[in-house]
Amino acid sequence: MARLSFLFFLFSFSFVHAKTMKFYFDSKLVKTLSVNEMEKSVSIETRSVYNPNTRSYEKFKSFDFKELLDLVYGKRWKEAEEISFFTSDNYVPFIPVKKFLMKDSFLAFDSAYGSKFTTVGKLKDQVHDLEPFYLIWEKGSRWDLDRSDWPFKIVGISAYSQSFNLIPKSSEKIQLHGYKLFKKYCIACHQVKGVGGIKGSNLLKSEVLQSSNRARLIQYIIDPKSVNKSSKMPFFPKRIRNKKAAVDSILQYLQWLDDKKTERVESPSKKKKIFSVERLNNALSN
Ligand code: HEC
Repeated sequence: MARLSFLFFLFSFSFVHAKTMKFYFDSKLVKTLSVNEMEKSVSIETRSVYNPNTRSYEKFKSFDFKELLDLVYGKRWKEAEEISFFTSDNYVPFIPVKKFLMKDSFLAFDSAYGSKFTTVGKLKDQVHDLEPFYLIWEKGSRWDLDRSDWPFKIVGISAYSQSFNLIPKSSEKIQLHGYKLFKKYCIACHQVKGVGGIKGSNLLKSEVLQSSNRARLIQYIIDPKSVNKSSKMPFFPKRIRNKKAAVDSILQYLQWLDDKKTERVESPSKKKKIFSVERLNNALSN
């Protein structure tokens, strides 16, 4: 029995270290790194993070995320606008580069002391599998960061520059405001122009933008259940004042994206190295 568990230990050890992360810049693949390769340039640290659900600390083996970004992209990631995370459950949160410059973050790849690489969620018996990678933040900062800033099951990472076609120019004020809200509250689930999650529909492809009943559409986005009881979409954050104007700017942003004729971001069906969740999943299962 002891020998068996030793073999199992060896197996899980080699498995952990064989896993890889794909890094993109403006949707183009830049590098694929295994934990072993990361370890050659960035030292492994054990970090504690506070789990508000269990009110205890969890310890993970991790890499300093900024050092890892330096390793992959050089200094150019610091001039980028966003970092996005592709998860194996089709969730694609965006986090502004500024946040990474202000706070220390770490890419966890295993729990410390050989326990399972999991965390406990809000509901009592809810255990989340974190494999293969989990983004964690410096101790004490749990409360001032959004939940979406702690993605797990991360399989890919992309930096997006200011010139990326998804981002309006600063002169396009309302659209830029709409973009900021969209990437904070919507893009994790709704893909546009090949970027973002696929839990919800591609909003540019759905007919909603052309909807004649804009007031109802805005009402739906603010509180989906008020329009469709069985909706799986979360309501718009309560803390945002003047929600109608905020949602309206999101719709104007989507309209702006839809109107753009010169597309640098092509649809994933064209054979280019552009990220798509499906393609990544296919690549991973091969
Ligand atoms: C956690 C995932 C999630 C987030 C975040 C999210 N949505 Fe959704 N959304 C969905 C799902 C799932 C649907 C499918 C219909 C339903 O369940 O109501 C949907 C449906 C929609 C629809 C109807 C489109 C159609 O084709 O049926 C619109 C419009 C929409 N979402 C806009 C938004 C906007 C704008 C935001 C950001 C403020 C947002 N969603 C945030 C998951 C999400």
